[in-house]
This record gives sequence, structure tokens and C-alpha cells, in this order.
Amino acid sequence: MKIGLSILDIDFSCLEKYKDLLKEADFIHLDVMDGVFVPNLTFGDFMIKTLRKIEKKLCIESHLMIINPEKHLDKFLEGDWVSLHIETISFIEDIIERVKSRGKRLGIAIKPKTPIKYIEKLKGKIDYVLVMSVEPGFSGQKFIEDSVERIEYLKKEGFEVYVDGGINKETAVKVKDAGADGIVSSSYILRSGNPLKRLKELKKILQEG
Ligand code: DX5
Ligand code: ZN
Repeated sequence: MKIGLSILDIDFSCLEKYKDLLKEADFIHLDVMDGVFVPNLTFGDFMIKTLRKIEKKLCIESHLMIINPEKHLDKFLEGDWVSLHIETISFIEDIIERVKSRGKRLGIAIKPKTPIKYIEKLKGKIDYVLVMSVEPGFSGQKFIEDSVERIEYLKKEGFEVYVDGGINKETAVKVKDAGADGIVSSSYILRSGNPLKRLKELKKILQEG
């Protein structure tokens, strides 16, 4: 199972000191928020370059919580994976074409209350689904338990599934048992006294099961 580190709770005034932590994660998850699709604002595509200055070889995923993601998509293809919300897209074929032509991975994110059956038509077309297990907008929220059924359903349908929001050592195991391929975490790792130790512990728990 892969662990993605969301950098939402990072102290951006001293990014350098996170180098070992960034390297320890399987991928880095950028929460890009526009204050419209979600009630919070974060950062844009410059963050990909900023992180690569710290460590060249990072696998970077951009989670776009923005309206009209088509408008900004190409800039985020400087990273490796990109997830767009199903609630925000109109021409999926165009998005698939643009992401594939750059050799990158496309994920479709889905909010907790959006019917999961809307994902079905994307079978075989996208690389993964990002199941939101909290309402997007903020880190540090509680895991929504219904997410477990949604993960199980998507795995039965044959999707690669990542889970984002409210992950801690208990919910990570629940999500793993439901068949998820990976998780994303911010607060559980970054708000702990020793983020690197926390990430390693989480890895161990997921390996052991
Ligand atoms: C929420 C973001 C999540 C969030 C996760 O809108 O998409 O990636 O940062 O934070 P935690 O792990 O604290 O729930
Ligand atoms: Zn996210």
C-alpha cells in the first residue's frame, strides 16, 4: 500500500528540514484549493518546482479542488499524477487525452456525498480514483465511515483506489482491509511531534496489516 504525504500542515517557512520526510513518502500530495469549489485557498503549480528544489526525485500528485480544472491542467502535468474532481469536469475525453499525451497518471476524485456510481462509466479510462473520506477543504477532520463501503464497491469494479482524509493508524487499517491501494495523510503525520517517525510507523502498520 502506498502512502501519500499531503503537505497541507507543513511549515512552509522551513521546507528544507522536511527533506527526509518528503523522501520517505511514496508520493507527495498537493492540495490545490481555489476558495470556490472548497471554502479554503492554498497554492498553485509553483509548489511542484519548489518541492523539486528540495528533492528532485519526488513523485508528485496534484489534487485539484478548483472549478474549471481544464483551464489549469497543463501546468500541473509538470508533476506525475493529477486528480480532478468528478463534480468539476465536463469533457473527460479531452482531459484523458491531455494527461496521456504527457505520459502522466490521471485520477478522478469524488466527494463523500457524490453518488459513487458516477465513477462506473470511467472504468478502463482513468488510472485511479481518489475517494474523499472527509469533505474537501481542510486537514484534521474525522474520517467518514461510509467511505469503507465506497472503497469496497470501487475495488469490486476493478478500480485502483486511494483514500484521502481523516487517516490515522486505525482508519488506515480499515481502508487497507477494504482493499485500497493507498492513502493520503496530512495531520496525523505532520501534527505529530516526530513526522518522520510517524510516517515510518504508519508504513509498518500497513505492511503488517
Ligand atoms: C482535504 C484534503 C486532504 C487533507 C488530508 O481537502 O484533500 O488531502 O489534506 O488531511 P488529513 O490527513 O489531516 O485529513
Ligand atoms: Zn487531498
